[in-house]
Amino acid sequence: MTLRMVFLAALLLAPVPSLAQAPTAQPTERYAKVDDPAVLESFGGVEGLRRFMELFEAELAVHPQTKPFFGGRDNTRVKQQLVDQFCDILGGGCIYRGQTMRDSHRGMGVSMAAFNGLVEAFQRAADRHGVPFRYQNKLLAALAPLYRDIVTR
Ligand code: HEM
Repeated sequence: MTLRMVFLAALLLAPVPSLAQAPTAQPTERYAKVDDPAVLESFGGVEGLRRFMELFEAELAVHPQTKPFFGGRDNTRVKQQLVDQFCDILGGGCIYRGQTMRDSHRGMGVSMAAFNGLVEAFQRAADRHGVPFRYQNKLLAALAPLYRDIVTR
């Protein structure tokens, strides 16, 4: 059974809440949020985030540290999840419902060098997308603490 199914089963088995507090959909896990709407605007809103993710994928596929993880594979699903996750963090009204960072990167053997490689790929993509450095850093600051769950060697 996938984690997603366990999560769904848990939702279905949970007692029915009163309408006043009915949660429509719960996020998988909570992240630090960026409390500045200018950051999402600088990416071009949620639609802009989708375009950014194409550039990010291209950079991840060529950076020597991240290429082994992202090159030559179908990244459609992970791109979609990243749009939801970044949009969620940037206050765009999305809810990230993918796996937790610990589960999705378990057994992958991500090193700190690979993590830093992803940050560089992000910066290159964000530069190409025209996102000002200070706004790039606001999102990166929210993502950085996730290394604890992602880096395993
Ligand atoms: C802050 C840094 C990172 C964030 C926010 C992040 C976020 C994500 C998300 C949201 C997913 C999708 C999870 C799902 O499918 O439910 C994912 C999957 C993945 N991540 Fe990361 N990640 C980060 C760092 C890294 C690094 C450093 C690597 C390797 C260099 C990496 C490699 C992957 C791969 C290969 C997948 C796809 C797994 C699959 O298809 O099953 N990630 N990541």
